[in-house]
Amino acid sequence: MERANADAARPRCACGQQVTRRAALGGLAGWGLVCGITGAAAEPADERPQVGDQLVAIDAAAPTALSPGDVSITPVLAWPMEPASNVVRSGSRLNKIVLVRLDPATLAAQTQARAAGGVVAYSAICPHAGCEVNGWVAEQRILECPCHNSRYDPGNAAAIVDGPTTRALAALPLKIVEGKLAVAAAFVGRLGIAPT
Ligand code: FES
Repeated sequence: MERANADAARPRCACGQQVTRRAALGGLAGWGLVCGITGAAAEPADERPQVGDQLVAIDAAAPTALSPGDVSITPVLAWPMEPASNVVRSGSRLNKIVLVRLDPATLAAQTQARAAGGVVAYSAICPHAGCEVNGWVAEQRILECPCHNSRYDPGNAAAIVDGPTTRALAALPLKIVEGKLAVAAAFVGRLGIAPT
């Protein structure tokens, strides 16, 4: 009970994540803490995607790294995974990623540079109110959030197409390592709910 109470009392950083117990005990936690500081001491499962991380489908029975061919035109939700340890970074829902495979020739230049094998990756958390962006409008090749129908263009930096959202989805640059999708750089753009 004492441990549960102590955990509940741990502060949260600006992005809403609770500070890890290790960080709190290490004296790194404070009410002025920002996410970047928290990330430096976070447990591996809580850390934001790191360069070289592989990607695994969130509904996979085993942590099998995804290849471009595993991603279709229909969105796939995924977590980053540390490849050496197979630690899936599912400790924060802000790490949830939506993947779509598109014709590379149709991608805007900026998005083409972040894609790998035609696969583009974005934060799956809708900036409007935090729902999971998992809908797909096939005719327009547009991602849609099921909560209030915000729409994002995955071929063009997840720019806003429609709906109440005020911010594009953060993009996660990808590369291919030994045939598998891997993180090429940190998220580009803000994560989580946009301030009103
Ligand atoms: S939470 Fe996505 S549109 Fe409202």
